[in-house]
Formats: sequence, structure tokens, C-alpha cells
Amino acid sequence: MNWHPGMTTGVPELDHHHRQIIDQFNDFYACMSLGESQRRAEAGRILDFLQFYAQWHFQREEACMDKYQCPAAAENRRAHAEFLSRFGALYEEWQTRGMDPALVNDTFTVLMEWIMNHIQGVDTRLNQSIPPPRTAAGS
Ligand SMILES: [Fe+2]
Ligand SMILES: [Fe+2]
Repeated sequence: MNWHPGMTTGVPELDHHHRQIIDQFNDFYACMSLGESQRRAEAGRILDFLQFYAQWHFQREEACMDKYQCPAAAENRRAHAEFLSRFGALYEEWQTRGMDPALVNDTFTVLMEWIMNHIQGVDTRLNQSIPPPRTAAGS
């Protein structure tokens, strides 16, 4: 999966976060072809990163939506809470069951699709709430 211009939020920092998040999801799939111990280490690193990075990104994005009074702000907040709860469940499962391929195919794929749909359906609404840059009046 790749970031594409249809996912623009109008805030370069948030678009950068989205690219990072998508890259991590792709790295997670790529690391499945590694040997057992390498795969375990790499998958653990990615999940740790995503857990931290998603929370941080959500906070930044919620603040932006508040600032620009985006009509999607409340929906965005609810969706983020849902993602974190689902991701938390996956994280726990990963810690107890380890790298079960079914876990990757089911849970992780669902989360990946979720985040792509969320960016395109909710986050991009921020773009319509950002006022166009002002030009100097009277000059
Ligand atoms: Fe969001
Ligand atoms: Fe986002």
C-alpha cells in the first residue's frame, strides 16, 4: 500500500506522519519473510514504534482539527480511540501468541485497511477546513 495525493490533509506534517505509518505497515509485511528470530525482533520493533507513533500522530492531528474547527473533529477523535483499542488488543495478542501468521493475515490486515480508509475518509476532511493563504490586503 502506498500514500497517494488523494490522501492529502493540507498539513505537510500530518501527511508525513501518514507516510511513516504506511511505511511501517509495509515493513511489517516485508519482515514476515525473514527467519524466525529476526522476524520476531523486527516485528516487535515495528509494533512498538507504531503504538507510540500512532498515539503521537493522533494527538497532533486532533489539535489541528480543533484549530481549524474541522467538522470531522469529533468523528476523528472517536475513530482514533477505536484504533488504539484495536491496536492494543493486537499488541497483547502478539505478546502472548507471538508471530502467528493468522494474526498477521487477519488482525493486521484489518488494521492496515482501517487506517487507509480512515486517512481518505476522515483525515482528508481537514483539507477543506484550512483557509486559503491570505495575501497582504491593500497592497
Ligand atoms: Fe485521523
Ligand atoms: Fe491521521
